[in-house]
Amino acid sequence: MDIQQWHQEAKKRLEKINQGHLLRFWDELNDTQKTDLLRQVDRLETELIPKWIETYVMGEGIIEIPHDFEPAPFYPAQTPPEQMEEYNRAHALGEQLLREGKVAGFVVAGGQGTRLGFDGPKGNFPISPIKKKTLFQIFAEILLAARERFQAEIPWYVMTSPLNNAQTIEIFEANQYYGLPKEDVLIFQQGTNPNFDFEGRIFLSDKHTIAKSPDGHGGSLKALYASGAISDMRDRGIEQISYWQVDNPLIHLMDPLFIGLHAQAGAGMSSKTLKKSGPLEKVGNFCLVDGRVTVIEYSDLPDEQSHRTNPDGSLVFELGSIAIHMISVAFVEKLNQHGFALPVHKAIKKIPYLNGEANFIEPDKPNGVKLETFVFDALPMSKKSIILETIRNQEFAPVKNATGTDSAEATYQMMIDRAADWLQRAGIALPRTKDGKPDCIIEIAPSFALYPEDVKNKIDQIPPIRPGDRIYFE
Ligand code: UTP
Repeated sequence: MDIQQWHQEAKKRLEKINQGHLLRFWDELNDTQKTDLLRQVDRLETELIPKWIETYVMGEGIIEIPHDFEPAPFYPAQTPPEQMEEYNRAHALGEQLLREGKVAGFVVAGGQGTRLGFDGPKGNFPISPIKKKTLFQIFAEILLAARERFQAEIPWYVMTSPLNNAQTIEIFEANQYYGLPKEDVLIFQQGTNPNFDFEGRIFLSDKHTIAKSPDGHGGSLKALYASGAISDMRDRGIEQISYWQVDNPLIHLMDPLFIGLHAQAGAGMSSKTLKKSGPLEKVGNFCLVDGRVTVIEYSDLPDEQSHRTNPDGSLVFELGSIAIHMISVAFVEKLNQHGFALPVHKAIKKIPYLNGEANFIEPDKPNGVKLETFVFDALPMSKKSIILETIRNQEFAPVKNATGTDSAEATYQMMIDRAADWLQRAGIALPRTKDGKPDCIIEIAPSFALYPEDVKNKIDQIPPIRPGDRIYFE
């Protein structure tokens, strides 16, 4: 098809859905830019867009709160004596799967990290207390230590978006893949959705580029398949995927118990959970709906349910979702082979755009809508699904915000606190301030201890720790 004809067809398709303005700078574009723009138009899901606009952009979306739901069952962090044998069996199975090279790591790193406001992919954010290791480096070191421990290849799949893919690859290249074999680090991209203004018009970000943003971490379940990552996993004999978010340096990402409980149950997708810090903490709630584990968003759980308590005073809905999952390769394959769609969520955001006069506008308040899917919405698609409780100060310290809750500063302190806890558990005396905080800055490299129990074997390498010391253990 010649470019004129291609242009005419694109114009017709766009005008039919009131998006003709996307071609308004056509006459000012060179041939490469014209082709580029037409390709983007071809990729727009024009048959879905009017429905999206009606439902999510102009409307409030579809929020289906189930009538009947109950708290989901879970495996407590403290092994109940009567379940000791089950936990032990699961732990052994998890270790076996790791030794057999059947587990892969998978980090979702396609987000835009707008709240943190860091320049570049969030994985490159320096966070460790002494060495200022970046998030990517910390994960790579955990994987290196796990490879050593289990004498197995543990491939690492990294999901980026078209907005940060090139930069992410540059970072891995510049750091020689942090010592991991390059062929075991597989970087692939997720899909995108167009961005809308409040009237349902798609934004341009320049004269030949449609403004788009990544389609949410839920996009990972399609992207794993579409990118060929799943088929690569099959070739390598991978059966289970350990999923985590790029913002959490405390992640215990090769956890034999979690892997084993999930595999032992024959689950498609499983989750870790935390007891919520209060009834209204802004995390999703694990519930059981028609026998399936389902996350009900904090904003969708009716207030009286959020506050409901058991006779011992604990919350009935006490399990918060923290975006740590095990996913079986077979589950992702099945979803994609049978066709699936996750619910779409609407996010009102500040979206930079090119206006009709070709001026680039960076809004100082929200001016439009992004559409995303969430990975936890796939949980009810899995017939079996287990939940394992973890402890907040051991495993969850996301870097989300520039200041305050979930900020880099809070995460940095939690890294020190966890290292102090691991040393203390091994019987090491630590200087503490009057309010009980460690009076020293310590950092434990994954090569020194992958799990808290590892510290005990290294006691002879630990010097006395004095107030104000800065000590790096590797
Ligand atoms: P967040 O929900 O914190 O979003 O992502 P974000 O885009 O990183 O940050 P804000 O909201 O703009 O401040 C949680 C995790 O999901 C990944 C992120 O990279 C992070 O690891 N994610 C999010 C994706 O991989 N793709 C997406 O489209 C969205």
